[in-house]
Amino acid sequence: MARASRNRTLQVSEAEKPLLRQRLLLPKDISGSNFTDRTIHGNLLDTLQKLPDEFADLVIIDPPYNLSKDFGSMKFDALSHEDYAFYLQSWFPAVCRKLKPHGSLYICGDWRSAGILQAAMEEELHLLNRITWQREKGRGAMRNWKNALEDIWFGVKDKRHYTFNVADVKMKRKVLAPYRKDGLPKDWNETDEGKFRDTYPSNFWDDLCVPFWSMPENTEHPTQKPEKLIAKLILASSNPGDMVFDPLLGSGTTSVVAKKLGRHFCGVEISEDYCFMAEKRLIMAESDKRIQGLADGIFWERNSQPLPNKQDGNNTKEE
Ligand SMILES: C[S@@+](CC[C@H](N)C(=O)[O-])C[C@H]1O[C@@H](n2cnc3c(N)ncnc32)[C@H](O)[C@@H]1O
Repeated sequence: MARASRNRTLQVSEAEKPLLRQRLLLPKDISGSNFTDRTIHGNLLDTLQKLPDEFADLVIIDPPYNLSKDFGSMKFDALSHEDYAFYLQSWFPAVCRKLKPHGSLYICGDWRSAGILQAAMEEELHLLNRITWQREKGRGAMRNWKNALEDIWFGVKDKRHYTFNVADVKMKRKVLAPYRKDGLPKDWNETDEGKFRDTYPSNFWDDLCVPFWSMPENTEHPTQKPEKLIAKLILASSNPGDMVFDPLLGSGTTSVVAKKLGRHFCGVEISEDYCFMAEKRLIMAESDKRIQGLADGIFWERNSQPLPNKQDGNNTKEE
């Protein structure tokens, strides 16, 4: 069936696969620091034994939530709370050991596993916050409230010494009450597009939708995170040249955004098809560093506005 002309979902053809496969690193071939800027195709449990401790400045984890979900070659079946906690214990402490002494870690989850994730974070790290992301999309329910929220737990190894670049994650919001003092705008700017204020980011994020079919970052991965969301984490909690590690990489969003923002990266993914998506996106990121919803170092209110043509500039501004 022909696909709609506005559908920009990433496609990987059979012809591209041999070349993309060559770019992948297998756990058995890890040595020294050859995992830098690579996608490791393998099981996280085997890979963790081969990676050195304390190599990552920032770890971003988007694990299978405790829901039955088909990840292609890997099917996750919903577990009891006790078994999900046990599953997490099989890899989470080992992942935390990969963090440098001044490193930061984010782990995503939904409301069902909030208690388990909070306990796991507090066991291994200093828990600093829980970000709530209102992702809008969610399946309606006849006898329950639709779930449209996700959590992103934020922890650090050393609560006195960690990276947090707040100026890099300010958000541009329309000013509702444009106060003036002595006739001049108070904390806001007048532009051709209207009156805006750069605001400090809170732990409630309602400026991000999940990738959808007309967005160039969209893939067929069932639980892909938006590039803009990962960009906020990376800009706030790492510096250019730092190493960002994603142990459950999926379609490659963390590595792609790290590359676009001048960080080193390493990701692990068990499904070869998702590794191919990651590699194709990484190749595309060599010539196109745009992140939808981030323009000239400012996060705009939405990430859903189309990107302009590449020659039109670095990025777009949102509605
Ligand atoms: C929630 S998804 C991550 C999605 C990702 N954030 C993105 O934007 O595409 C979790 C991923 O972990 C992978 N995975 C699950 N268990 C794994 C394991 N033991 N080793 C490596 N990858 C695994 C799944 O195949 C899935 O793609």
